[in-house]
Amino acid sequence: MMTHTRTAIVTGAARGIGAAVAQRLAADGLAVALVDLDEAACKPGVERIQAAGGRAVAVGVDVSDERGVEAAVQRITEELGAPAVLVNNAGIIRDNMLFKMTAGDWDAVLNVHLRGSFLMSRAVQGYMTKAGWGRIVNLSSTSALGNRGQANYAAAKAGLQGFTKTLALELGKFGVTANAIAPGFVETEMTAATAQRMNMPFDEFKKAMAARIPVARTGVPQDIAHAVSFFVSEDAGYVSGQVLYVAGGPQG
Ligand code: NAI
Repeated sequence: MMTHTRTAIVTGAARGIGAAVAQRLAADGLAVALVDLDEAACKPGVERIQAAGGRAVAVGVDVSDERGVEAAVQRITEELGAPAVLVNNAGIIRDNMLFKMTAGDWDAVLNVHLRGSFLMSRAVQGYMTKAGWGRIVNLSSTSALGNRGQANYAAAKAGLQGFTKTLALELGKFGVTANAIAPGFVETEMTAATAQRMNMPFDEFKKAMAARIPVARTGVPQDIAHAVSFFVSEDAGYVSGQVLYVAGGPQG
């Protein structure tokens, strides 16, 4: 039984999957820190949680900024309580075929997904191990299996799977689990931008994707939030180091 409100940190929580995860964890009874590049962009999500009687704060930080991350976690601890849950969701894409991919495109993607998840996890682990309880969930992707035009993103998302399994090994004895969720196509501004780059109306793009998905539809952020909710739940303590594909069909 949970005896106090646990604090969760969700990165990239201003919109898309992160915004849905923040709302879901708040509905599950957690206090939630919504972290994104722009603090103001997280405010509507915070207000929604507060209006429903929950506790939340908006925090603006670049997850790849070492000192910024340390300061953000410190502030969250003071305002909401020590972090017990971390969802590393912040992400960007800089798609291009290998021959056109710049070193800047490579570094930007690796920095947000991998360095960001590393810095955030390192900043919170002390609180979790001290409490003897913690949950870390990292957002991977079906792109980890390989995807044309995404050498940088695929490498980052595959890297996150190795990162997750290593955290599970190192932190397990302290009551901390680490798992990864690898979504397939989910309707967000990230995939809308992909459609735009391919000169396709988003609806048409979604239809084309749905035709290749066994459950015959594209995903929505709530599909991923539900999986996060499971990994974070009190009774999921024996589930660690796993990669759950949430893609409307078998993957991996
Ligand atoms: P999105 O682009 O709609 O939202 C991402 C959020 O992360 C934005 O609010 C952005 O400001 C924030 N962000 C970006 N860089 C940041 C940084 N350095 N520091 C702090 N915040 C930062 O993306 P979406 O679709 O919601 O994706 C969320 C996660 O799920 C990402 O890690 C993405 O790679 C992953 N994913 C998404 C899929 C999809 O189909 N939408 C499929 C598989 C994985």
